[in-house]
Amino acid sequence: MQYRAARGTEDLLPGRMLYWNAMQMAATEIFGRHGYSMIETPIFEQTDIFIHGIGQSTDVVSKEMFTVLSPDAYTKVATGNAERLKNDQRLTLRPEGTASFVRAAQQHNLLPQGGAPVKAFYAGPMFRAERQQRGRLRQFHQIGVECLGAADPFADAEAIIMLMQYLFELGIDPQSVKLLINSMGDDACRPHYREQVRAYIHEHSDELCEECNRRADINPLRAFDCKNETCQHVMKGAPNITDYLCDDCKTHYEQVKKYLDIAGIEYHEDSRLVRGLDYYTRTVFEVQVISGLGAQNALGGGGRYDKLVEIMGGKPTPGLGFAVGAERIMLALEDQGFDLTQTIPPELFMAFTSPQTKAVAYELTLMLRLNGIRVETDYQDRSLKSQLKLAGKLGVEYVVIVGDDELAADQVTVRDMKESTEETVVISDLLDYFMPLDTYEEFFDEA
Ligand code: HAM
Repeated sequence: MQYRAARGTEDLLPGRMLYWNAMQMAATEIFGRHGYSMIETPIFEQTDIFIHGIGQSTDVVSKEMFTVLSPDAYTKVATGNAERLKNDQRLTLRPEGTASFVRAAQQHNLLPQGGAPVKAFYAGPMFRAERQQRGRLRQFHQIGVECLGAADPFADAEAIIMLMQYLFELGIDPQSVKLLINSMGDDACRPHYREQVRAYIHEHSDELCEECNRRADINPLRAFDCKNETCQHVMKGAPNITDYLCDDCKTHYEQVKKYLDIAGIEYHEDSRLVRGLDYYTRTVFEVQVISGLGAQNALGGGGRYDKLVEIMGGKPTPGLGFAVGAERIMLALEDQGFDLTQTIPPELFMAFTSPQTKAVAYELTLMLRLNGIRVETDYQDRSLKSQLKLAGKLGVEYVVIVGDDELAADQVTVRDMKESTEETVVISDLLDYFMPLDTYEEFFDEA
C-alpha cells in the first residue's frame, strides 16, 4: 500500500516552499516597515483559548477544531472520563492566530499600559476540519498581523493599506481582486441590530436552513456567512448594519474610509460582510479574487477586535489585524499564469572524466560551495556525455570539466552553457572566475 498525505493536507514541495519563504521575507520587509516584528506561538493551545476567543457559535469552534490528546488524556477519554480532563489537557491545534497572539501578549505582559501599541506578525500552519475543496484545506498556512493598543481609525486603514501592498508585492494582479469593507458596530449599537436580524430570521425561518434557525437565538449574525445559497439569498433582504451604527461607530468608519481614499485604495462597502469569527467590532475587511477560486475566494481578511483582550481576561485594549492564506494566494497566482514549481537551479555543474579527476572535482565542489556558489556534481560515475546531459537538465549556467589532460597542467575546462563556448581556467583562478552567486532575493525577483 502506498501512503498518501492525510485528507485536506498538502505537501509543500520545493517550488511552493520557496514561495512560502518568499512570502515570509516580503512580510518581514513590508510589515517591518510598519513596525511589526515576527513572533511564533505554539501550534496547539488550550482549547478554551479558542472557544473564548473565537466564539462558541462560529463554524470554526463548533465544527472545525482538531483536538489533540496526550496519552494520559487519551486514556481518560477512552475510558469515558473526558469530563475529568484538566484545562491544560484539553488541547486544540490552532485554527487561527489571533486568539493565540492575545494569549501570548497577556502572558508576557506585552500589552501597552498607555504605551506604544504592540505590533506582531506570524507565519505558520493552521488547522480547520473543513471539507476539502480547491483553496480549502484542513492544514493551511497563514501569515497574520496583529496590533494591540491602537484605537485610532488610522490604524484600521493602515492595516488594510499594508494588506493590499503586501498582496500586490507578492504578484497579485490588482485587477483580479476586490477589497470589501464594513463596520459591524460595537456594544453600543450591535445588540439592537442583532435583535433586528433575529426577528428577520424568525420571520423567514421556513426559508432558512436548520442551522441558521438554530443560531438565531445564539448569534443571528452568523446567518450572514452561511454557505447555503438559499440562506445567502434570503439574508440579502435582512436589515442593514449601516442603518443601525451609533454615532461613534459611524464616525470611526467614515474616518477609515477617508484614510483609504487618501491612500488611493479602492474598496467596496458590503454591509453583509460579518466574517466568520465572533471577536470583530467596528471595521471588518476581506480581499476576494473576482473569479477563479469559487466559493473559497477570500485571499485574506481581518478587522478590529476591541473586546477580545477583555474577553480573554485582560484589561480593555483595542486590537486589530488580518491574516492571508498562503495556499489561496498561490492558487490565485497560478491562475494568473505564475509557475510555482520552479526551484533555484545550481549555478554550475562539476563534471569529471576518471577516478583521478573525480577526487579533484569533489574537492573543487566543496571549495566553491564554501565560497557561496551553488554547485552540483555527479554521484553515479556517469560518462561525461551523461553528466553534460544532466547539467543541461538542471539548467546550470556553467559546467566545469575536470579532465585528465587539463588536470596534468593544473587546469580545468569551463563551459558556458548559454553561449556554448569553452575556455581553459587555471585551478587556482577558478574561484575568481565565477561571480558570487545570485542571492536568493535576486532569484526571486527574476522568477
Ligand atoms: P480567516 O478569514 O478565518 O481570518 O482566515 C484568513 C485567511 O486564511 C482566509 O482569507 C483564507 O485565505 C485562509 N483560510 C482560512 N481557512 C482556510 C482553509 N480551510 N484552507 C485554506 N485557507 C484558509 C482569520 O483567521 C483571522 N484570525 C484573521 C485576523 C487576524 N483577524 C484579526 N486578526
